Amino acid sequence: MKKGEVGILAVIGVVVVVAASIKGYNITSQKEEDKGIPYYSTATQELSKQARVLFDKYNCHACHSLWTKRSVMQSVPAPALDGMGSLKSEEWFLQYFSADNPQAIVPTRLKKEYQMPSLADAPKEDRIILAKYMASLKVEDWYLEETKKREYEKLTGQEYSP
Ligand code: HEC
Repeated sequence: MKKGEVGILAVIGVVVVVAASIKGYNITSQKEEDKGIPYYSTATQELSKQARVLFDKYNCHACHSLWTKRSVMQSVPAPALDGMGSLKSEEWFLQYFSADNPQAIVPTRLKKEYQMPSLADAPKEDRIILAKYMASLKVEDWYLEETKKREYEKLTGQEYSP
């Protein structure tokens, strides 16, 4: 082998080693970042079942996504409900659902037909179940900031800066 060829082989060797270690690094760092799904619920099976019935009854999925489920027709930029119970309390939800004008509590940027409807005329038991269920929708601490950011950006249409 000529001196030049040895040099070229050496360069190729170095490139291969560096490329392999970058790839290896990526794989391990991806593994570290894969912490799983951050959302969970503390609801009993009974409460989840009741809430599911009410979600259908009041068509919440028409505007909101939850557990990645959303209506195919959904085009309203309403906040996702996942993790919402880590941002607000059960009392807050009950008050919000019972308000004649929910927009006085959470301001809107949407046309009337896309806004959060008032559930003030719904049976109180329904509002209580919905509030309990919403409060049970938690997010792991490591995804809390991201959840706040998503909520803020959906509500305001503006970029979130903590
Ligand atoms: C017509 C669309 C629509 C329907 C149906 C609807 N929502 Fe909403 N909801 C919204 C919008 C939009 C907002 C954001 C505030 C606004 O613009 O009025 C909102 C806000 C909320 C909030 C407050 C979110 C926050 O970030 O503070 C909760 C909780 C909520 N909705 C739960 C529900 C539940 C539970 C149902 C079913 C009982 C439901 N919504 C039905 C559109 C809807």
